[in-house]
Amino acid sequence: MEAPLLPLLLLFLAAAAGPNAATAARDGCTSGCDHALGSYYVASNQNVTYIASLFGFSDYRVLGKYNPGIPNLDFVAAGDRLNVPFPCQCIAPPSAPASTFLAAPIRYDVHTGDTYISIADQFNNLTTPAWLQATNTYPANNIPDVGSVNVTVNCSCGDPGISTAYGLFLTYPLRDRETLASVAANHSFSSPEQMDLLRKYNPGMDGVTGSGIVYIPAKDPNGSYLPLKSQGTGSLCPSGS
Ligand SMILES: *[C@@H]1O[C@H](CO)[C@@H](O)[C@H](O)[C@H]1NC(C)=O
Ligand SMILES: *[C@@H]1O[C@H](CO)[C@@H](O)[C@H](O)[C@H]1NC(C)=O
Ligand SMILES: *[C@@H]1O[C@H](CO)[C@@H](O)[C@H](O)[C@H]1NC(C)=O
Ligand SMILES: *[C@@H]1O[C@H](CO)[C@@H](O)[C@H](O)[C@H]1NC(C)=O
Ligand SMILES: *[C@@H]1O[C@H](CO)[C@@H](O)[C@H](O)[C@H]1NC(C)=O
Ligand SMILES: *[C@@H]1O[C@H](CO)[C@@H](O)[C@H](O)[C@H]1NC(C)=O
Repeated sequence: MEAPLLPLLLLFLAAAAGPNAATAARDGCTSGCDHALGSYYVASNQNVTYIASLFGFSDYRVLGKYNPGIPNLDFVAAGDRLNVPFPCQCIAPPSAPASTFLAAPIRYDVHTGDTYISIADQFNNLTTPAWLQATNTYPANNIPDVGSVNVTVNCSCGDPGISTAYGLFLTYPLRDRETLASVAANHSFSSPEQMDLLRKYNPGMDGVTGSGIVYIPAKDPNGSYLPLKSQGTGSLCPSGS
């Protein structure tokens, strides 16, 4: 029981200290938010039914309202990106219970022979094998054949210290030649002021190309940016709570 914990802790610390870890707005959370979105890159031979099921949806049509740019989900093709919603929670990993960070723990039912590598593979860079290992109690060589693991997908709820205009964020894994600037521009954040803002949400990611995750403010299904809800004080929240 004791043996696996030290390597896991070291792994977690190494991951947390990595140069690409976007730490400022996400680490040391005390609460999460109702929703974040993940940008799922559709690879060849992946259909919407399968992708929706990975995130716990038995009917892929629920994804329609989060994907206004895709007129018909039945014609999603390899190379498209599908937005998937998940709750963004404040989590303390078993490997380092004193730290907290924002992520969605997505329940994944294990199949015989699964490894953290094979599981992470299905999520197309929304998570990594190392991050799965750091956020699950099972050692990598001893995942039970029956049961579930947490597929931990990092997310953001915004940051009152940066802006109160944005409270819904897209978790976007960079591909190939993509950078924070190219993805930002593609999501209508292209002015120098907007880029300054996005750099604050993504410390350490400016100048990174083709790997790691960036967080981009996203529109809600009604087509407007969702402002930040207060997390505790109540002062920013229009509807109380
Ligand atoms: C998720 O966030 C944690 C904490 O900031 C970081 O250590 C980890 O590397 C991130 N995981 C991924 C897959 O980006
Ligand atoms: C969708 O993909 C899954 C997993 O690859 C496969 O089992 C299923 O047959 C596919 N469904 C359709 C309609 O292509
Ligand atoms: C995941 O990232 C790796 C390297 O960063 C890249 O080669 C691969 O194509 C990505 N996979 C997907 C499905 O985006
Ligand atoms: C998944 O996460 C939950 C909640 O954080 C935790 O209780 C559970 O032990 C985790 N599962 C594994 C296999 O680590
Ligand atoms: C920008 O968006 C378009 C359409 O959504 C897509 O085809 C293109 O690959 C995107 N480019 C980048 C750099 O994200
Ligand atoms: C979207 O608009 C509808 C109708 O105006 C409203 O009832 C709903 O609460 C709005 N949803 C969000 C998330 O703002």
